[in-house]
Amino acid sequence: MADAGVMEALLRRVEKADGGVDSLEVAADLGVDHQMVVGAVKSLQALGDVISAEQRSSKQWELTGEGNEVAEQGSHEARVFNSIPVEGIPRNELMKLAFGKVGFTKAMSSKWIKVDKEQDRIFKAVESVEDQVKEKLLQVQSGQASLLDDKDRNELKKRKLLSEVTVKSYWISKGQSFSTTITKQETELTAEMIASGNWKEKKFKPYNFEAMGIAPDCGHLHPLMKVRTQFRQIFLEMGFTEMPTNNFIESSFWNFDSLFQPQQHPARDQHDTFFLSDPALAHEFPTDYLERVKKVHSEGGYGSQGYKYDWKIEEAQKNLLRTHTTAVSSRMLYKLAQQKEFTPVKYFSIDRVFRNETLDATHLAEFHQIEGVVADRGLTLGDLMGILHQFFTKLGITKLRFKPAFNPYTEPSMEMFSYHEGLKKWVEVGNSGVFRPEMLLPMGLPEDVTVIAWGLSLERPTMIKYGINNIRELVGHKVNLQMVYDSPVCRLDS
Ligand code: PHE
Repeated sequence: MADAGVMEALLRRVEKADGGVDSLEVAADLGVDHQMVVGAVKSLQALGDVISAEQRSSKQWELTGEGNEVAEQGSHEARVFNSIPVEGIPRNELMKLAFGKVGFTKAMSSKWIKVDKEQDRIFKAVESVEDQVKEKLLQVQSGQASLLDDKDRNELKKRKLLSEVTVKSYWISKGQSFSTTITKQETELTAEMIASGNWKEKKFKPYNFEAMGIAPDCGHLHPLMKVRTQFRQIFLEMGFTEMPTNNFIESSFWNFDSLFQPQQHPARDQHDTFFLSDPALAHEFPTDYLERVKKVHSEGGYGSQGYKYDWKIEEAQKNLLRTHTTAVSSRMLYKLAQQKEFTPVKYFSIDRVFRNETLDATHLAEFHQIEGVVADRGLTLGDLMGILHQFFTKLGITKLRFKPAFNPYTEPSMEMFSYHEGLKKWVEVGNSGVFRPEMLLPMGLPEDVTVIAWGLSLERPTMIKYGINNIRELVGHKVNLQMVYDSPVCRLDS
């Protein structure tokens, strides 16, 4: 029966009923699922005051799964009785039957069967039996549970054949504007209705302001990307420009040599860096600049003694997966130095870097670095500390401390620590420094230009923000997509 049919049938029932009707009763009469009647009640209620419906709950007896089986095939004891032939049946064979054990016990206590101890065989003890259990269950099934007495019902309940359930139903009676014909309500006011004026005669369906919206079907950003957006926003607010970081492969020259990192530095070992086998070497370098880099490493210059070793181009040519985004900063500063007239710049980048690390809960062989670079005349360490304070304040971190550190390309260098309120201790949040003249002057930057810079990882703040303890839950094949769907947008300062 279709929805509208149920609605009309229900209205006719209500019209005839004196006082009202129960929705369960209507469902039984119409031979439809109770939910259909409930749906009709809801639809009629939405039409205004056609009917009045009051919710009520009542207890009902229902057959369990096993109860239904018994109603169909007979009780365990009756089935035992029926499977015994005149010549009897060995006890162990009877027990093999699915209903054997329970049926045997029940049939014995009703004295329907008897055991011949000597032969260990079971025989019928009476001519025929009456399967009352089945009869009673059939009564319940046909909606006549009230004909059974309490003792019967409780016994069947104990045998888990019957169960008592609470059912919710509606008591339905006539409303103020009761009618057996339903006029369909309009859901939309159209231009035609306004033009013809017939909207005045129409009935309109009221808005349901309580209705839930449909969840938009859309893609979901990974938490790392959400946090990256926030960091990018902070840099943009501070007037920084994003550097192009779209090359994971870099030559050792830009990743190390241009940064005054000596060729025998341990970071340039296979253990720490992924080198490429194909193409293994890079070939294009700005020749003059390369010569100046070679010179500052091997002989010194610009007031420096250099490292005094035999600098080899073959080492600088080796291709690798960049180990830090400072390789990009280096390229950008070199480019800046090629301008006719120096102009102050503020650059940033947020992208992926690679290190040959031993993997554990907090380390992967790849992660993201966030880097800021400022080049201007007359910058000091005070400027670096000031800008770091400003940057971290925008992240909601106000307690900041600095500790002297070492980087081959910065002097002085400082690690940054912030006080973690949750962990109640100072945790390292990044690394920073003032780029060395041995790095900047070979590029061709004016002598009075200072470049300050800092770097931090994107994974660390993301894990703290989203409460993730193991990096493998954030990146890699163990990532639960539901986590990605469920992670809310990121606001770093709250
Ligand atoms: N490149 C450094 C690192 O990988 C971070 C850094 C950037 C340090 C800029 C100083 C200046 O940890």
